[in-house]
Amino acid sequence: MSISTPVGTVAVDTASVLQIDDLHVAFGGNQVLQGIDLQFVPGFNGLIGPNGAGKTTVFNVVSGYVRRNEGTIRLQGEDLSGLSRTQRVKAGIGRTFQSPRLILDATVMENTLLGRHHLFRWGHFAELLFWPPQIREETEARRICMSMLDRFGLAEVAHEEAGALSLGSQKLVEVARALVADPTVVLLDEPAAGLGADDVTVLLRGLREIVAESDLCVVIIEHDLQLVTSLCPKISVLHFGEIISEGSPEHVTTDPVVIEAYLGHGFEAEEGGEIHEVESPLSEHHHIDHVEEEGDLTEVWTEDDDPEQEELS
Ligand SMILES: Nc1ncnc2c1ncn2[C@@H]1O[C@H](COP(=O)(O)OP(=O)(O)OP(=O)(O)O)[C@@H](O)[C@H]1O
Ligand SMILES: [Mg+2]
Repeated sequence: MSISTPVGTVAVDTASVLQIDDLHVAFGGNQVLQGIDLQFVPGFNGLIGPNGAGKTTVFNVVSGYVRRNEGTIRLQGEDLSGLSRTQRVKAGIGRTFQSPRLILDATVMENTLLGRHHLFRWGHFAELLFWPPQIREETEARRICMSMLDRFGLAEVAHEEAGALSLGSQKLVEVARALVADPTVVLLDEPAAGLGADDVTVLLRGLREIVAESDLCVVIIEHDLQLVTSLCPKISVLHFGEIISEGSPEHVTTDPVVIEAYLGHGFEAEEGGEIHEVESPLSEHHHIDHVEEEGDLTEVWTEDDDPEQEELS
């Protein structure tokens, strides 16, 4: 399918729920996204790349936190440009943040209910009047939120203050809050970072259940490659604001361009996607030391057999 835009005709991938075309973002003179194209489909989609690659910026543009310089973002074919953050939530874009943004002195339930706020038909005035339809609406919202919290192992802490929870549990609350909004696409920014093994299990089980039950499109940024490769049939790799590789977990984790960009020289992928350091002439003879120079820690290459620890850089 193709549609007409002010700058010509653009092909629209009808299988993709969220389609990004030629996205450019600059902060001052810093070109952070340099004309990227991405298509995300129902199920799990991975977005990976080294620190500073521009991954969070993609989420920020899609959810309306950062303005693009050029490019188009379409949700189910509808152009999102010009929509506010709230309008994008209403359109079906949900997200979590790399560092959770909860109201720490509100309860877990109250935080989760905020995710359904845009779906409420009746406002606070109706609440003050004990208006029966408003009471029914709120009761139903609480039931949905409790059921979602239960999926993520949080039902028992529903009435505790969010600030009393561990960082891992706070991140799970954010995931629950994003999902009770009934999004079409949910953008999860490093949801497993900082979680203990048990919380990661709960997170993945909850997400897998929801994906199996619905057409939800989950886009997940994650540094844990094993987690992404086990979850996502398709992974896109961002490096210095460009998509350098895209495809199945096997394809991207064995793509030499990805291995070099992501980890630098001296690594290779095993079958199954695990990447490990290989012996190289460099690693046989050199190692990295940290030395203190004028009070600053500095990395220097040193030769094993050189007692003077010659600095090469
Ligand atoms: N609001 C902003 N203003 C100025 N520069 C920004 C802003 N947001 C991001 N940047 C810069 O854009 C680049 C990409 O940042 P981004 O947060 O998108 O990277 P990332 O891939 O999510 O990295 P990480 O894996 O460390 O989270 C970085 O150089 C960052 O400093
Ligand atoms: Mg980030």
